[in-house]
Amino acid sequence: MSTTPSTRPFAIVTGASAGIGYELAVLCAQNGYDLLVAADQPKVREAAEAFRRLGAAVDAVEADLATQEGCDRVIAAANGRAVDALLANAGHGLGHAFLDQAFDEIRHVIDTNITGTLYLVQKIVKPMVARRQGRVLITGSVAGFIPGSFQAVYNGTKAFIDSFAFALRNEIKDSGVTVTLLMPGPTDTEFFERAGLMDTKVGQAKKDDPAMVAKVGYDAMMAGESDVVAGWKNKLQTTVATVTPNEILAEMHRKQAEPQGGAPPRDTVHDRPSKR
Ligand SMILES: NC(=O)c1ccc[n+]([C@@H]2O[C@H](COP(=O)([O-])OP(=O)(O)OC[C@H]3O[C@@H](n4cnc5c(N)ncnc54)[C@H](OP(=O)(O)O)[C@@H]3O)[C@@H](O)[C@H]2O)c1
Repeated sequence: MSTTPSTRPFAIVTGASAGIGYELAVLCAQNGYDLLVAADQPKVREAAEAFRRLGAAVDAVEADLATQEGCDRVIAAANGRAVDALLANAGHGLGHAFLDQAFDEIRHVIDTNITGTLYLVQKIVKPMVARRQGRVLITGSVAGFIPGSFQAVYNGTKAFIDSFAFALRNEIKDSGVTVTLLMPGPTDTEFFERAGLMDTKVGQAKKDDPAMVAKVGYDAMMAGESDVVAGWKNKLQTTVATVTPNEILAEMHRKQAEPQGGAPPRDTVHDRPSKR
């Protein structure tokens, strides 16, 4: 990135190498933001090239955002530049029965989806509040409304994140900084494969377009809205979920997420090369 101070707004997008985060970064670039993008795998550098072709100045950081060290590297890469928008989107799922899951994988989901997200949000939003300016988009999920049999830990992390986003928004409501919660439903990304969910009903079902989901979230963030569910079917699902007993919701989730062919759980954090 050039050392000449830029007058363009500056956004940090986590999980920008693929899926919803990639599309969020595209929208930021198309709308005049310079970018700092982060993801765990080298693919984030290819994504950065694509964002540069849209006219943005882009820095890319390869970092495991489940670790404080990884999050600190993202913050350091901002080099003290004021952040106008934080799109805290990195996250991943984990299918199969809780008792069959490797604890390292369980911990990695929690550390990415909750701990890393909160750490980055706190570090980046504090200076935003001091400047009385900024936008924050946090990717939660409609999964946060539903006890997620056969994806129990993931849904729990998203229940946490959904709740946290509303609470933080309220705490800083007079600060000039807005917090917006994006709640996608099943979306056609690498999520299901990575979580070992391909052998499930939801893994095989038709899903939302990540570009549509990102646009809904981006527009809500720019409008300073509190929260948005992407897609009318998912809106309906969340409305029904609020009046349905949790025991019934858990049974409904089992039907969607229970492995159909008894595929064994994966025993590594990633089913691809990892720096960990
Ligand atoms: N797809 C859905 O159905 C759905 C529904 C509701 C909510 N969401 C949420 O949407 C967000 C984006 O997911 P997606 O569907 O776009 O999945 P995706 O295509 O798998 O993209 C996930 C992104 O997050 C990054 N990431 C994951 N763990 C990371 C870690 N520990 N450190 C750094 N980067 C990490 C990935 O980078 P690497 O590949 O480099 O790890 C990738 O860039 C997640 O928070 C997810 O929970 C997804």
